[in-house]
Order: sequence, then structure tokens, then C-alpha cells
Amino acid sequence: MKAVIPAAGLGTRFLPATKAQPKEMLPVFDKPTIQYVVEEAVASGIDDILIITGKGKRSIEDHFDRSFELEYFLRKNNKKEYLDEVEAISDLADIYFVRQKEQKGLGDAIYCARKHIDGEEAFAVLLGDTITSSDVPCTRQLMDIYERYGASAIAVEEVPRDKVERYGIIDGREVSEGIYSIDDMVEKPPISEAPSNLAIMGRYVLESEIFDHIENVPPGFGGEIQLTDAMRELKTVYGCVFRGKTYDIGNRVDWLKTSLEFAMRDDEIRPELVDYMRGLISRY
Ligand code: UTP
Repeated sequence: MKAVIPAAGLGTRFLPATKAQPKEMLPVFDKPTIQYVVEEAVASGIDDILIITGKGKRSIEDHFDRSFELEYFLRKNNKKEYLDEVEAISDLADIYFVRQKEQKGLGDAIYCARKHIDGEEAFAVLLGDTITSSDVPCTRQLMDIYERYGASAIAVEEVPRDKVERYGIIDGREVSEGIYSIDDMVEKPPISEAPSNLAIMGRYVLESEIFDHIENVPPGFGGEIQLTDAMRELKTVYGCVFRGKTYDIGNRVDWLKTSLEFAMRDDEIRPELVDYMRGLISRY
């Protein structure tokens, strides 16, 4: 199976940080966000990845490319540890790029992948601004459902009722533990109209007929071509309650929290960080 990572959005919620750099390249602790996303695809068994980029996103391509000058410098100065790390990034997978010409929404971004996916029954989608953490990679969990049921599968997670208007929300019935057969879905509903508090969180395995539906779907919420609207047209979609944790780095607070949490996992950094945070807390 191939993977598509949409990373062409304007990142307006994170301005001015995202004025001249992609939000997908913002580091979370010590790695750019999109590297975690690519690593999840690879850990799920995928080695063909298409990244949807756009204007001002060149650094994403550079990050996954070889950097001969840097590698030469590191080799010459005996910085083997760094050298290994830099080389490993460009060896992660076969990574391809296509540009979304205009930021017309997530559905339109996915549509840019149709020629690359041509001939495949299904493909995985991983949002470039969302990191997941779990024992079994989130995308792998969805691939397993696709293999079991032969239908599209999307990851969902419970969100507090007062936050439903930030997400795509599903309506469905549980067919086995944590797996819902989806009857309907709605993008960013007002709280009063949300059919549940199960939110679509940025990981999908979609049958390739989705491209026909994207083509036919009119602009939806915010005047954008919404993937959620196109997915409503698929005959069968399963929602899988994700066993793990999701981190949306597209807004400042969650990005900062994620960086802190990931830094806390590092045994060397943790004591210093804890001391520093204690100091901050006593000061503010
Ligand atoms: P978001 O809606 O979170 O991204 O899309 P955005 O539009 O950049 O965010 P704000 O609201 O302006 O802050 C989720 C993912 O889909 C991609 C984004 O790059 C992000 O990874 N996306 C979104 C596209 O590739 N193209 C689009 O037209 C919109």
C-alpha cells in the first residue's frame, strides 16, 4: 500500500511561525513533525510515500533528500552519530512530491495524488501536522481493518463534547469493540448538531474510488473541498477508535505540549527540564 501525506496547508492558526516555513517542518522536541509522520508510515510497512506540498514548502523536500555537503562535513569531522542520523532520513522510504497549486482544502490536496495512486485499490492518508503515538502504529491498525473488512477505515477518537466543532464527527454503530460502521459524518458541526463525540483525527485508509467522489463534491465548510464530504459518498467506511494518543501540532499550545511531552521521554533531558518547569511554575 502507498501513503499520501498532505502538507500543503497555509497553517494560519500558527502564524507568524508559519509565514515563511511549513508548519509540518516545525520541530517537535528534536525532529520536524513530518518526519514522525513518515516514520509512522514506514513502521506500518509502507515504503512508497507521496507528500503533497505547495508554495513555500521546499524545505520538506530538502529534509528528505541527500545532503552531500553536510554529509561530507560530518564525515570529515568524525561526527559519525550525526552522519548516521542524517543519512537515515533520506533512506527512510521512496518519497515523491507533488504540488497542490491552490490551497482549496484537504479533499483537493488528496485529489492531487490520483495519478500516483493509479491502479491501487486503496491507499493510506496521514495528515502532515498530526503525530500519533501507540504500540501498533495507527496507520497499521487501519490497514489491518481494511484487510479484515475490505472497506475504507478511518481513525477516530473521543473528544470533549464542547470541542466537536473543531473536527469531522462520525455517526455510526459499534460492530465490534472499538470499530464503528459509519452511517454519516459531518465536518465541524455546531455542538447541537454533532451526532457523537467521535472525531476523525487524521489517519485514513481509503479505497481509490474516493477520487471520483472528490471530483464531484461541491465546496463545503469554509468554502473548501472537504475530504469528509467525499468520504460520505463511499459505500462502507469503518471508524476505528484509535488505541494510542494523537498530537495535533497545527496550533501553538498543542505543539508546545507535544514538544514538552516528547522531551520528557528523554532520560538525559528530563531532570533538567523538570527543574526548569518547577522554577517557571513558582515564578508565574
Ligand atoms: P489543516 O486544516 O489543519 O491545515 O489541514 P491548514 O489549512 O494549514 O491549517 P490552518 O487552519 O490554516 O491553521 C490538515 C492537513 O491538511 C493539509 C495541511 O497541510 C495539514 O497537514 N492541507 C490542508 C493541504 O495539504 N491542503 C489544503 O488545502 C488544506
